[in-house]
Amino acid sequence: MSVIKVAILGFGTVGEGFYRTIQSHEEELKAVLGRKVEVAAVLIRNKQKERDINKEVIVTTDFTDILNLPQLDVVVEAIVDKDPTYSFLKKAIQRGCHIITANKEMFAHHGQELLELAKKHNVSVGYEATVAGGIPVIQTLRQLLNVNRVQQVQGILNGTSNFILTEMREKKLSFAEALRAAQENGFAEADPTNDVEGFDAFYKAMILSRLAFGEEPNWHDVERAGITSITSKLIDTAERLGLRFKHIAIIRKSGNQLTASVKPVLVGKEHPLYHVEGVQNAVNIYSDIVGQITLQGPGAGMFPTASAVIEDLVYVCQNRPVTQGLTPTKEINAGSQELIQQE
Ligand code: HSE
Repeated sequence: MSVIKVAILGFGTVGEGFYRTIQSHEEELKAVLGRKVEVAAVLIRNKQKERDINKEVIVTTDFTDILNLPQLDVVVEAIVDKDPTYSFLKKAIQRGCHIITANKEMFAHHGQELLELAKKHNVSVGYEATVAGGIPVIQTLRQLLNVNRVQQVQGILNGTSNFILTEMREKKLSFAEALRAAQENGFAEADPTNDVEGFDAFYKAMILSRLAFGEEPNWHDVERAGITSITSKLIDTAERLGLRFKHIAIIRKSGNQLTASVKPVLVGKEHPLYHVEGVQNAVNIYSDIVGQITLQGPGAGMFPTASAVIEDLVYVCQNRPVTQGLTPTKEINAGSQELIQQE
C-alpha cells in the first residue's frame, strides 16, 4: 500500500502534538484515508534539543532538505513567525504539496495568496488550527453554511485571555500569576503580547471574516484592545453586578457595511458567551436560515490544536486526492538556501 508522506515544520506544542497524534491514531487515519500516513521529516531550529522523534524521520534545520525529499505529499506548518513561513509554504505548494497551517498571524496576512496559489497548483490548504483551537469552526463555515447568509460572527478567540480573566475572577489570581499559569500550560504564545493585547484574536477574527463574509474590514478601522486594562478590582465590581468581562471579537455585516471590533466587553448572564470559561473558546454565528449557532470547545493546548491539524490532514487529502508529491525542480529550489529555519 502506498503511503502519504508528511513533513512537519516546527516541533513546539503544535508540531509535537500533531506528530504524537499521527502515532496514536494511525489506525483511524489508515481507515479513513485508505493509506498509511508517515512523517518523513521534521524541520527544527535547535539541533541540540532532545526530542522524541523516531530515527527513520529526517530531522533538519534546513528547509531545502524537506523540499528535496523524493516523496512529499503534505506540509504541516506549526511555526510562530510570519516569515519565512510564508515562503516555505509557497514553495511547498509549488512543489505540489497540500499545506496545513496553524499560524494565524501568517495566514491573516497571506492566506488569500496561499489559497490562490494552491488553486493554481491543484492542491488544498487546511487552516482549521488557525482559529479557536480544537473547535471545527472553519469546516463549519466552509462546508456547512454555504447557502446561509451570515450576518454576524462573534467569539472568544484567545484562550489565554479567557483563561486569565477566569483565573482572576475565580481564584483571585493577579494578572501576572494568571499569565504565568497560561504559559506553564502551553496556551500562551512564546511572546504573550499578541495574546493579552488582542492581536492574536484580531488575526483570527480577520480569518473568520474572510471565510464568513468573503471580505475583511479595513484593518485600521477595527477597534482592537487587549485585556491588560482589566484589573482585579474591575472584575470584582462587575461580578457584584452579575456581569463578566469577556474578550470578544465581533464581525458584523449590515447592508454592505462590514464592521468589526476585538476588545473586552462586559456581558450579562443572557449573553451567549457569558458561561465560556478558562481556556475555552466559543464562536457564535447568526445567519439568516439557521438562526443562531454557538460552537464551544478548547481554544488552545497541544491536543485540541492537534485535533484541528489532524482533521485538516483528512480534509486536504480528501478534498483533492494526494498525488505522488512532485519531484523538486530547480525553480522551486532557487533561493531556498537563504531561508532561515525557525520553530
Ligand atoms: N495563544 C493562543 C491562545 C493559542 O491562547 O488562544 C491558540 O491559538
